[in-house]
Amino acid sequence: MKLGVNIDHIATLRNARGGIEPKLVEAAEIILKENILALTMHLREDRRHIKDKDLYDIKALGAKINLEMAATNEIQKIALDIVPYSVCIVPEKRLEITTEGGLDVNKQKDKLKEFIKPLKEKGILVSMFIDPEINQIEASRYIDADYIEMHTGCFSNAFDNGNYTKELDKLKKSAKYAKDIGLKVNAGHGLNYKNVYLMKEIKEISELNIGHSIISRAVFVGIQKAVKEMLELIK
Ligand code: PXP
Repeated sequence: MKLGVNIDHIATLRNARGGIEPKLVEAAEIILKENILALTMHLREDRRHIKDKDLYDIKALGAKINLEMAATNEIQKIALDIVPYSVCIVPEKRLEITTEGGLDVNKQKDKLKEFIKPLKEKGILVSMFIDPEINQIEASRYIDADYIEMHTGCFSNAFDNGNYTKELDKLKKSAKYAKDIGLKVNAGHGLNYKNVYLMKEIKEISELNIGHSIISRAVFVGIQKAVKEMLELIK
């Protein structure tokens, strides 16, 4: 199981003062020393954290980027220019604090199939951020996505409430179903140092994308140690 480190909230902190610190590139250079798969960045429509220039700066480091993006023409154009290692198509609502639910791929399958074609033609791996539901997995297969990323938000909330069995089971069944029909499986959202060990029970998962908990931990122990500790937990 590999780790994608989401660095959006380093940019959130930087933007709080409107200046240049903490420098995203400096953080990226430290994180890239660790055995991670990719740096994950979400270029939101309102640019509340990652800005366009950040993507180009991180790309210039030679880093593998997993670009989280809404299915809009504006962001697609940037993705086709940057050519990240992978893109994860997410739903985006302006007023949400974070990505609250999975994308309804099933409802817009033909549109999404067309949308991801040029990305795939550039050799970019395409992932769909979905809730762990069979119809969304089948729709992701139909549109020819390479990966699904299972939204682990409900599991993470259930973990905090002390009864996560049902949600973990959903993730397990979905991961198996996806793998059986030819999709690769990632997972993310709300995973942290306490609950992440349970992801090791899902052998189909290739990659976890984790942001908030790692950046929060970094405040106390530094970004390198925070990443090292997470890597140790998912080994
Ligand atoms: N995966 C996707 C698709 C996301 O949108 C997010 C949140 O930006 C994450 C993973 C990481 O979630 P968290 O910050 O809760 O670890």
